[in-house]
Order: sequence, then C-alpha cells, then structure tokens
Amino acid sequence: MLSKELEKALNEQINFELYSSYLYMAMCGALQSMNFEGASNWMKVQAMEEMTHADKMFNFVFERDGKVMLDKIDCPPSEWPSMLAVYEDVYKHEKIVTARISNLMELALSEKDHATSSFLQWFITEQIEEESNAKTIIDKLKMANNAPHMLLMMDMELGKRQFTMPAASEQA
Ligand code: FEO
Repeated sequence: MLSKELEKALNEQINFELYSSYLYMAMCGALQSMNFEGASNWMKVQAMEEMTHADKMFNFVFERDGKVMLDKIDCPPSEWPSMLAVYEDVYKHEKIVTARISNLMELALSEKDHATSSFLQWFITEQIEEESNAKTIIDKLKMANNAPHMLLMMDMELGKRQFTMPAASEQA
C-alpha cells in the first residue's frame, strides 16, 4: 500500500502529466496557426503520449490500493513567436518533468518503497528520450536558421511521427 505522502505526490504528478498533455495540445494549435502541419502533428502525438503517462500512474495508484484524486488543470499559454520558441519551451518543460520524477524517486527510496521505485524507473528512462528528442529538434532548427526551405523540410520530417498505443502490459 502507498504511504499517504507518496499517494499525494503521485496524484500531483498525474495532474502534471495531464497539464503536459494540455500544454502540448496548446502548442499543437499554435503550430497549426503558423502553418507547420508536420510539427503540429508531432505535438499532437506528444500530447497523446502524455495522456498515457498520466494513465500509467493512474493505474499504478489503484494497484497499490491508493486513491486517485483529480484536481483542476492549469491553463497553458496559447501563443509562441516561432517554431523554435515552441520547442525551446518543450525542452524547458521536460526538464521540469525530469526533476519532478527524480524527486518522486527520492521519496520512494527514502520510504524503502521498492515497488514504487521500480515503477518510476520507466519514467526515469523515458525522460532521457523526452529531453533528447526536444534538444535534437532545437539543434536542427538552429541550424536551419529560419531558411524557409529548411523549415519546410523539418516540418515534413516532424509530420512522420505516429502515436503508438502502449501494449496492455506496459500500461499496468
Ligand atoms: Fe510525461 Fe513528457 O513527460
């Protein structure tokens, strides 16, 4: 069974994962308004992935005999000046997520809750990929230096991203 403190912390992280999804949906809309349909698609997939992160935690809290308490979700920004600014905010946001997961892990370890620390290991690994993906896109956008044909090529590449529903065994 989860301690009350871990239950509360996991509930706060469920809320933050849902906020992440909401933020990325806002970015998806902003990119659509800039006519970057590929990047907008990339961001929608990102938003859907965040929903699966929230769902993973939601299921885990129940499995550990905890209670899920959903709270209101903060309002995300709605405008960014460029595609680069959007991805810089993605990177900034993912670094915050990484720090939050790390704090959760420290709490689980301090309580010797090995089931929770084992569960959180998936998120630790996921965050390496999340940060790396955003950083790679930022680096490429900086190289493109606002050249229209380069931006169009980037947009086409980002448009190839597809959402894959996690297998049932990974959702638990
Ligand atoms: Fe759920 Fe992008 O971290």
